[in-house]
Amino acid sequence: MRVIIIGGTGHVGTYLVPELVEAGHEVINLSRQQHQPYQANSTWKKVRQVIVDRDLEEIAGTFGGRVSELHPDVVIDMICFKLESARQLVEALRGQVQHFLSCGTIWVHGPSKVVPTTEQQPREPFGDYGIQKAAIEDYLLEQAHRHGFPATILHPGHIVGPGWVPLNPAGHFNPVVFEKLARGEELTLPNLGMETVHHVHADDVAQSFMKALANWNAAVGESFHVVSPAALTLRGYAEAIADWFGQPTNLRYLPWEEWRNTVTVEESSATWDHIAHSPNCSIAKAERLLDYRPRYSSLQGVFESVEWLMHNGKIIVK
Ligand SMILES: NC(=O)c1ccc[n+]([C@@H]2O[C@H](COP(=O)([O-])OP(=O)(O)OC[C@H]3O[C@@H](n4cnc5c(N)ncnc54)[C@H](OP(=O)(O)O)[C@@H]3O)[C@@H](O)[C@H]2O)c1
Repeated sequence: MRVIIIGGTGHVGTYLVPELVEAGHEVINLSRQQHQPYQANSTWKKVRQVIVDRDLEEIAGTFGGRVSELHPDVVIDMICFKLESARQLVEALRGQVQHFLSCGTIWVHGPSKVVPTTEQQPREPFGDYGIQKAAIEDYLLEQAHRHGFPATILHPGHIVGPGWVPLNPAGHFNPVVFEKLARGEELTLPNLGMETVHHVHADDVAQSFMKALANWNAAVGESFHVVSPAALTLRGYAEAIADWFGQPTNLRYLPWEEWRNTVTVEESSATWDHIAHSPNCSIAKAERLLDYRPRYSSLQGVFESVEWLMHNGKIIVK
């Protein structure tokens, strides 16, 4: 099939595009060509690159037509963040594609309630990102159910893999947290460290897209969580990282209002976003309908990322 991927050189595309090529598909990547995949792979030579700035073309109203003119059988939209963006693409592709796969986020749920959260639970998103992603999901599912548009939405957790900084046990992205744990130094966590995070390896996200393509009947008109088999508490995550480095865990806890003043505004904002959601999602639906079988636990994914941080001088652990 001719598969168009919009934004295929990022975390997920690094794994997904080579798998699509290896499966025999003709792959066209649409991006600005400002970023290269995180890992080299000879299959990229077979990928046609089309340089496009989606934001600019959407404003001009030409983006949907641009994708449609490439006559795709399948469109994978990795970078849809606004309802209007989804609408423009669907209007242009209606009746033309066999499968339309959109990358969502587990943030569509808002704060966790009954855990593990299932896809069936009502959406109560907060923050523009989660609200827009939930609106996109709602729209695509309605298009599928009422108008036969062949949409599937895949909702990843915190994507990890070698090449970028993983979400850390304090709920933000400053890699110094890993250095502290590696040296057995004190790490302060908000509240009791019992709030949760739910990672997924980018390779497993790629797997979910491949499995959705392979299981068209079960996938169309559905959305799926794509996370590791189990979420982690911040405390459990910190303990596992310290242990991995052969160090005792030296944790201290502070109420949120005090803790937030111990880190930068950027860090506290990232942590708040993560602990206010405290995701803990079920993969039962993806296992049952797509045969999704994540290769990585949360910690296995993070360990691989942290090894990359060490080997590339991003953290110093001695
Ligand atoms: N990161 C996470 O932890 C996380 C968690 C849950 C869900 N998600 C979802 O995952 C998706 C992102 O996937 P990813 O993490 O694999 O992507 P990514 O690493 O952020 O890469 C973005 C891709 O889109 C391209 N791109 C960015 N802006 C563009 C534009 N204006 N026009 C055309 N191409 C553009 C980039 O290439 P150029 O820069 O060269 O254009 C690159 O190929 C999003 O839908 C996000 O909501 C991410």
